[in-house]
Amino acid sequence: IERTFSMIKPDATKRNLTGAITKMLEDAGLRVVASKRVHMSQREAEAFYAVHKERPFFGELTEFMASGPTVVQVLEGENAIAKNREVMGATNPVDADEGTIRKAFAQSIGENSVHGSDAPETAKEEIAFWFAEKDIVG
Ligand code: GTP
Ligand code: MG
Repeated sequence: IERTFSMIKPDATKRNLTGAITKMLEDAGLRVVASKRVHMSQREAEAFYAVHKERPFFGELTEFMASGPTVVQVLEGENAIAKNREVMGATNPVDADEGTIRKAFAQSIGENSVHGSDAPETAKEEIAFWFAEKDIVG
């Protein structure tokens, strides 16, 4: 059984979509084993997204992530990383398949409603960034 990290972004919490998005994750066979609402600081956003710091959109991305509440979650399931990426859909909602979270809810490539880890190593790091092992209840 695999774990991945998921985040419901400020554009989605603002529109009260936490439940709707979580339901799509659960319907895909993923289980929420940790969850909390966080309004991160600009510095936390910069640390969390440090891998993107050379990208031209880094400032825009981190300001957006610090602009309102997010919901950070640990998801568990068979092939949880790949399954979560599948239900999220493509980064740009214009390219996202029917039935995905981003097709349903994302507003733009930046305000795209969800984040999900892309590999086992990043899943581990991203989970540890937000959660202590004792707060994950499988
Ligand atoms: P994440 O799950 O959020 O990591 O999405 P991803 O893996 O599909 O995309 P990627 O890691 O390439 O980019 C990380 C995040 O940066 C995306 O989810 C977007 O929110 C944001 N991003 C990517 N490209 C752009 C862009 O051109 N402009 C802006 N404003 N944001 C972007
Ligand atoms: Mg990514």
